[in-house]
Amino acid sequence: MTKRGNKKIGRNSLCPCGSGLKYKKCCMLRKNIKTDIKSYYLKRYGIIIKTNEEIEGIRKAGSLVVATHKEVKKIIKPGITTEDINALVHKFTVENGAVPAPLNYKGFPKSVCVSVNEVICHGIPGGRVICDGDIVNVDITSILNGFYADANYTYFAGEPSDETRKLVDTCKESLRRGIEKVAPGATTGDIGYAIQSYAEKKGYSVVREFVGHGVGIDFHEPPQILHFGKKGTGIPLVENMTFTIEPMINTGTKDIRILDDGWTAVTRDGSLSSQFEETIVVTKNGCESLTPFDF
Ligand code: MF3
Ligand code: CO
Ligand code: CO
Repeated sequence: MTKRGNKKIGRNSLCPCGSGLKYKKCCMLRKNIKTDIKSYYLKRYGIIIKTNEEIEGIRKAGSLVVATHKEVKKIIKPGITTEDINALVHKFTVENGAVPAPLNYKGFPKSVCVSVNEVICHGIPGGRVICDGDIVNVDITSILNGFYADANYTYFAGEPSDETRKLVDTCKESLRRGIEKVAPGATTGDIGYAIQSYAEKKGYSVVREFVGHGVGIDFHEPPQILHFGKKGTGIPLVENMTFTIEPMINTGTKDIRILDDGWTAVTRDGSLSSQFEETIVVTKNGCESLTPFDF
């Protein structure tokens, strides 16, 4: 037992710093706090806590992902095909010295996921023509100097209906509310709770089958970031964790169906689906987006 003020802290009790670790695995070690959390998270959860240098690498990849989105935004309009978006993303990524992560990932045949209207995620670009009033989710992941950043954005093609705009605004705001919860000492469940409670209050449903994920050294790392759940559950967040948050919100049922291509996930009832995603790093006092959209 150690005395701290008039409170006794057991070796096996939760560390008062809020890390979520046992005291003996955390501040009791004083000098080795950082390295010890890193090895503990790797062993216990498979989570790679990044070094500051690695975070800088992911930030650079993130800047390229955002720059690619800016190019995509310019061409989204009725009449283009989803393949036009793929061609642009592929060319821009390669010209900037990066590799499009989706291409050949577990057999995915294109360089970007493009998901229109009822498509929730993992839409394969092709001949589908984008129509006035459609919503188009473009999910870009680039590998730059070995570092991954992953971000998606739901664009409007032409003029959306009021209903459509409300869904997309709600999805965007649900991501913002999830991000707002990210800080050392919060848990992955706090993020999910913030997203689900907001989206459901607005009358929408949250997709369960696809989740956010650790990212940076690899495309999909532990942990999983659920977009639903209970406060205080899951894994305690610690400084220098990097992960995505990427809620998929539907106007109708939360249930999904996968098309015969083995990838395209659609809403089971054909209702509309929106998604937003950012790559986030946990900082000392909160978090920072490594893919900050300024639009
Ligand atoms: N970018 C997606 C995500 O957010 C994953 C796409 S996998 C692919 O995790 F193979 F479809 F590209
Ligand atoms: Co992702
Ligand atoms: Co993504």
